[in-house]
Amino acid sequence: MFDKGDCLIEVLPYIKKFFKKTMVIKYGGAAMIDENLKNSFSKDVSLLKYIGINPIIVHGGGPAIGKTLQQLNMESKFHGGLRITDEATMEVVVMVLAGKVNKEIVLKINQNGGKAVGVSGVDASIIQAKKKLVEDVDLGLVGDVELVNPMILNHLSEDGYIPVVAPIGVDENGKRYNINADSVASAIAISLKAEKLIFLTDSDGVLDKNGELVSSVNIKNIDNMINDSVIYGGMIPKILSSKEAIENGVKKVHIINGTKVHSLLEEIFTLTGIGTEIHEDE
Ligand SMILES: Nc1ncnc2c1ncn2[C@@H]1O[C@H](COP(=O)(O)OP(=O)(O)OP(=O)(O)O)[C@@H](O)[C@H]1O
Ligand SMILES: [Mg+2]
Repeated sequence: MFDKGDCLIEVLPYIKKFFKKTMVIKYGGAAMIDENLKNSFSKDVSLLKYIGINPIIVHGGGPAIGKTLQQLNMESKFHGGLRITDEATMEVVVMVLAGKVNKEIVLKINQNGGKAVGVSGVDASIIQAKKKLVEDVDLGLVGDVELVNPMILNHLSEDGYIPVVAPIGVDENGKRYNINADSVASAIAISLKAEKLIFLTDSDGVLDKNGELVSSVNIKNIDNMINDSVIYGGMIPKILSSKEAIENGVKKVHIINGTKVHSLLEEIFTLTGIGTEIHEDE
């Protein structure tokens, strides 16, 4: 029979291992599907906080931005998984990410027992950005992270709060940029020397050509997987950000299915974890 006591005691080694450690959790817009899932995500991160882990949430909001643009009869255009962002689109991006999505997540966490504080990368200049330059296409106000100023995130964490970060950056002239949330999560994880970086998305992890889960990806195979179109669209920034994190000292990086209830807890508190782990040669 299922024994609650056994089940609870099984997590003791993990609680011990991760006590006071930072975990950056990228909460993908694709995983914010219904109230039930949003509540269970909020409970999971509140639980992590109360057992002594420091979760830092970085959220996306692709679907919410797309929906609002559609309501305003504005076009959504993508290049390599990134949204081409002109001035008018940027206004919508800021409103939706920093105004709507960020505050909804904060509210949900607070309603589910945690204490969350929402910021964007503009607050305390957390995310210093520069224009992202790619060959052939002008992406407009799409930025790359230049520097992370993590001080305020540390202060919030140490004071018992769960920081929730909207992926908007600012340059030295005060110009704001739309930055893919995967790369913001990775940059924050690197700057905080995070124990784990976990991406919650809408697939079980990285899938192969047959749609089967790939449980671990060696970073040296990533370029081939992109060239072979096994990895495309929104998975491209995610896998490249994972690689960046692993190469810069983040201990573990996982891509998991945020549309499954409590997947976050299953990843953290089981030996094998779930989803796809990204690693380099031992
Ligand atoms: N090999 C792959 N395995 C799994 N998903 C893949 C793969 N290649 C591309 N994808 C796509 O990547 C998508 C996930 O990225 P997407 O940007 O849409 O979501 P997200 O990053 O979780 O949300 P947001 O962008 O709002 O933060 C999947 O829904 C799938 O369509
Ligand atoms: Mg995405």
